Amino acid sequence: MNMLRKTLTIVAAGLLIAALAHAEGPQMTAQIAPIDRHDVASLQRGARMFVNYCLGCHSAQHMRYNRLQSDLGLSEKQVAENLIFRGALAKDGYVTDKVGESMKTSMDRADAKAIFGVAPPDLSVEARVRGTDWLYAYLRGYYRDEKSATGWNNLAFPSVAMPHVLWELGGQSKLAVREFDNHEEAKGAFVQTHVVGSLEAIHTKKDGKEMVKYVLKTIEPDKPGKLSVHDYDVVVADLVNYLDYMAEPVKNERIQLGIKVLIFLAILFVFAYWTKREYWKDVH
Ligand code: HEC
Repeated sequence: MNMLRKTLTIVAAGLLIAALAHAEGPQMTAQIAPIDRHDVASLQRGARMFVNYCLGCHSAQHMRYNRLQSDLGLSEKQVAENLIFRGALAKDGYVTDKVGESMKTSMDRADAKAIFGVAPPDLSVEARVRGTDWLYAYLRGYYRDEKSATGWNNLAFPSVAMPHVLWELGGQSKLAVREFDNHEEAKGAFVQTHVVGSLEAIHTKKDGKEMVKYVLKTIEPDKPGKLSVHDYDVVVADLVNYLDYMAEPVKNERIQLGIKVLIFLAILFVFAYWTKREYWKDVH
């Protein structure tokens, strides 16, 4: 009993420390990414976006182009013509990608590091690393910041080295900072944030009295891009859907297999039960 009490105390203390640690620094909120990995049209659009806007800097080493044929219902010709766009550059000395190859970037790692300060990471399993909600916030969380090297900053990833590569589609946003004295009001505005919000409690001392103010940072559209805010959200959702699929291409098959196994077990149960009744009939 003593042992149990001790263990519970340690667990409770651990939880308290975790809660306190969490209370430090700004709190972040983001919307749930509206994605559906069974929506093949969305995955096709996402794959196209990925190849056109991301593969220039990032690779996806674990993804092979020919997987897209079977999973996304594309023909070899469609994949070769619409997705492996670097093939067309072969005559200029570029490597030609074959359908069976993995998604490589045309950018040299050392060059990328020299330009951005950090090499753009491989995105094969990025959706598992960061989660889809974070990705959805990140790709919509860019705002103009004259003080940064690229002219951009990101509320989900402060001081990020990647510029806003989709700005022509999504337009330019600006950072909106609001201050509240009342915690409830700040929280109310915080949970309603459209893209991603960060809420921080700042403690100050005035005439010896402890004061708290709540600083809420959000993203606000400033100059429109080619797409409306809604259409841009859809494009980003497609892209995140594709990143999620890419991080685990066999997930759909696995779920289907799981369902088949459960159906099999259910049928097996009926037979097992029936056999049991036959055996025990004479005993009762
Ligand atoms: C011009 C080059 C460039 C392009 C194009 C580009 N990125 Fe990046 N990306 C970077 C760099 C550089 C970083 C590293 C940023 C850092 O660590 O500060 C990065 C980081 C990221 C990260 C964060 C990785 C992590 O977990 O730390 C994600 C996610 C990402 N990129 C997604 C994308 C997507 C999706 C696209 C296509 C829409 C894209 N990138 C296009 C250069 C690029």
